[in-house]
Amino acid sequence: MKKDFLSVSDFSPQEIKQVIEQAMTLKEEDSPHLLSGKTLALLFEKPSLRTRVSFEIAMHQLGGYAIYLSPQEVGLDKRESVPDVAKVLSRYVDCIAARTFSHKTLISLAGHSQVPVINALSDLEHPCQALSDLLTIYEKKGRLAGLTMAFIGDGNNVANSLLLATSITGMNFHIASPSGYEINREILSQGRKFASSSRSRIELFTSPEEAVTSADIVYTDVWTSMGQDAEADKRRLAFHDYKVDERLLSFARQDVLFMHPLPAHHDEEISPGLLDDPKSVVFDQAENRLHLQKALLAKILLPTK
Ligand code: CP
Ligand code: NVA
Repeated sequence: MKKDFLSVSDFSPQEIKQVIEQAMTLKEEDSPHLLSGKTLALLFEKPSLRTRVSFEIAMHQLGGYAIYLSPQEVGLDKRESVPDVAKVLSRYVDCIAARTFSHKTLISLAGHSQVPVINALSDLEHPCQALSDLLTIYEKKGRLAGLTMAFIGDGNNVANSLLLATSITGMNFHIASPSGYEINREILSQGRKFASSSRSRIELFTSPEEAVTSADIVYTDVWTSMGQDAEADKRRLAFHDYKVDERLLSFARQDVLFMHPLPAHHDEEISPGLLDDPKSVVFDQAENRLHLQKALLAKILLPTK
């Protein structure tokens, strides 16, 4: 049976651990033939720097081949229906990594594709980002379970995947969002079940200071995600008190890590210069997209031992 990766919750705690360990091995060792002869289609409805480049380079460095399909070329659901695109690509490639506006498009692609589909970001989740972030945290802190992540800002796709990733792996998750921009209720209830199995906590706040108090990791993301540009002014007002800066980080633990998936809006959700602060690990996060996705592709494309 093909194994799609649409949500962080598609993987068990053991599978997440295995992918992180494999990513650490692949970061140290060249494996130029691991995915020899394998092909990946990158089907994108939205722009990308990190996700596109890291998937393309991952396939190249493992001996496979990736082909990037821009929104203009494919016209998903405009030039051609989603099921037809899924059926055609299944005849050419071994895997599809898709970035879509609607998560429903991903579900439809996966439902009609004969080959595995990876979520390269949708309006609901960004699971490749969240798993890469776990790798970064594990490298920096030497453990996951028992640590506390405080997410400041929009209850968006990145927040949803982080809530699931932390609760599955035994990390505590705090989130501070303004009214009207809270985390998705279904993701929250799914996360609460994981948290109860892994003995971790999920706590919701409106005050960023309360959320970051004693946090090991402070994480933020843009206030206006791709596809929400018409709401940018309204969101700038709503999130005014949710900027992450030196003052806010001073409420967290002294050895706090600052994280952001990028792209960042300087002097909007973060203070200018924060990305280059000694607490910031954002460029390690960006690098780890490559290593984690190599392990993910190997897991999805190679037969299980
Ligand atoms: N973090 C991330 O997914 O970046 P891109 O949108 O540039 O791929
Ligand atoms: N929440 C952001 C993440 C970008 C990597 C967006 O969806 O635009």
